Amino acid sequence: MSPQSFKRIPLIERYREFLPVTDRTPIISLSEGYTPLIKADRLASMLGGELTIYLKFEGMNPTGSFKDRGMTMAISKAVEAGSRATICASTGNTAASAAAYSARAGLVCAVILPRGAVAIGKVSQSLIHGAKVLAIDGNFDDALRITREISEAYPITLVNSLNPYRIEGQKTGAFEICDELGHAPTYHAIPVGNAGNITAYWAGYKAYYDAGKIETLPIMLGFQAAKSAPIVDGHPIENPETIATAIRIGNPASWKQAVAARDESGGIIDKVTDEEITDAQKLLASVEGIFCEPASAASVAGVIKKAKEGFFRGKCDIVCVLTGHGLKDPDRAIKIAPPIIELPADTKAVAKEMKLV
Ligand code: F0G
Repeated sequence: MSPQSFKRIPLIERYREFLPVTDRTPIISLSEGYTPLIKADRLASMLGGELTIYLKFEGMNPTGSFKDRGMTMAISKAVEAGSRATICASTGNTAASAAAYSARAGLVCAVILPRGAVAIGKVSQSLIHGAKVLAIDGNFDDALRITREISEAYPITLVNSLNPYRIEGQKTGAFEICDELGHAPTYHAIPVGNAGNITAYWAGYKAYYDAGKIETLPIMLGFQAAKSAPIVDGHPIENPETIATAIRIGNPASWKQAVAARDESGGIIDKVTDEEITDAQKLLASVEGIFCEPASAASVAGVIKKAKEGFFRGKCDIVCVLTGHGLKDPDRAIKIAPPIIELPADTKAVAKEMKLV
């Protein structure tokens, strides 16, 4: 086997023709992308019908979430422009990714987090990568407002998805799905928080369609958490709540673009309860062997909800994006899983507990 067959090309090089880069753009990469598209037959059979379900496990990116696709672009372009510092507001994953890619590029990074509302794994990433971690007494929407104001007033590059290069990079998720399947899926299910990712996927599918790489476009299915569902409810939510802290957002920056993706594709944006999210997270872990974080499970929870409603007709394939790894939020996993059984150091006691005797 030649070493070449193992070589991963940075995402930016691989999809260069679809991305706004030039020969002068330095590529800051951590070998992002190439995430697995896992066929979920046991889940599909539980839903009945003629569904084929694929899980695009974005938790396999270098920092454990889909954010790396956009961050390789945003940080590369920041370096190209001569920037020395980056800033973002975050529910945790954008911050982890910004911190890692900024470290790699030698940029100073500041992350503004809602205090007490970010999963511990994500906080640990921002800290170890050396970002300045600022936790404010407010929610994500407050953090984003402050971040925008700082980046407008000072020479610091904003790397939230308001930065157009983030969206450009995240389009590559759609390219990978089409390259692997050989076509676009019938449905594309995705959690919606600040609404950058649904915007990016739809733009990616459209770019591939326009380039003649696919012959059909998917129907976009976005899912928000029930008490953080401004797009579904039709108005900003002042105090959004959900156990899926990644999508605890009351006033998404890409609201209009998400609505356009929904309407242009003939799709829907719906909401799922925390209970449905938790059930989906546990189901994925127990029947498919995939550990994703709660927000990611919203895409699967949504598909389960829609299947129960009889939404899917006939033969179709659905890609659910699992946006982040379960290890990001171990506290939550421990809370919803069965407890540890503590025993004396005694073989008989262990055998008894295992019901072997
Ligand atoms: N899933 C995960 C794991 C996320 O971290 C996010 C967003 C989303 C879904 C929603 O994606 O915002 O593009 O609609 N996390 C952002 C952050 C807000 O700061 O890490 P979106």
